[in-house]
Amino acid sequence: MNVVLLGAPGVGKGTVAKRLSERYGIPHISTGDLLRSAIDRATPVGLKAKSFVDSGRLVPDEIVTELVETNLRSPSASKGFLLDGYPRTVVQADALASFSSVDRVLNLVAPKKVILERLSGRRTCRKCGVVYHVKNIPPRKAGVCDSCGSGLYQRSDESPEVVMERLSVYENETSPLVDFYRNEGLLVDVDATLDVAGVVRQCVAAVEEGVSDE
Ligand code: AP5
Repeated sequence: MNVVLLGAPGVGKGTVAKRLSERYGIPHISTGDLLRSAIDRATPVGLKAKSFVDSGRLVPDEIVTELVETNLRSPSASKGFLLDGYPRTVVQADALASFSSVDRVLNLVAPKKVILERLSGRRTCRKCGVVYHVKNIPPRKAGVCDSCGSGLYQRSDESPEVVMERLSVYENETSPLVDFYRNEGLLVDVDATLDVAGVVRQCVAAVEEGVSDE
């Protein structure tokens, strides 16, 4: 089962992808996580990507595509994958089609107000990467990860200016993929304003029962 998660920054793609990954036993491949890890380790990819990620712009297509292709070719992805944050441009969608098939595209949709509230309250574990929200999905103890006890932090691309840039990049460069995949009959719209369980339920139905809005 090869699934792409599409949607604006902060709409909840990573949160839902983690739940689906546990349910189906297929890897959650997040280009944002891969890039942040490369930046933290100061790898050649990380050094090239840092200024783009910090300013909310897209990392050049060829860099991200190489990362994704390598991950999709690994044995862990042989039974399928949940791709979160890729493709983000039509060039990337064409590249993906050249090395993998896609069975479903889940398009998470929520108004800007909900997205801004989710982004401003997000807290991420510095060590294990678990994502919380100060109000919606709080840790048991403020600022501390339930899973590993490490400290939580706010990502460097969560300042109001960078968030506005990311939303505008999404509108201009990524949202055309909605029609791209709708025209291929692969896209299902998901109401992402519901709680996590409600969003996951819709995604499971879409993945297991086929494209409902064809
Ligand atoms: P990336 O990390 O992919 O960022 P993004 O797409 O902007 O998405 P986010 O991770 O911010 O949000 P999300 O939708 O996963 O939401 P989450 O589940 O965390 O990319 C970062 C940067 O890397 C880009 O700006 C770019 O520079 C670069 N990059 C990445 N991919 C690239 C590519 N393909 N090409 C070029 N450049 C690329 O949820 C958000 C918050 O809401 C959390 O606090 C969560 O707890 C809460 N929440 C989630 N769901 C719910 C719910 N249903 N109800 C209540 N709260 C919820």
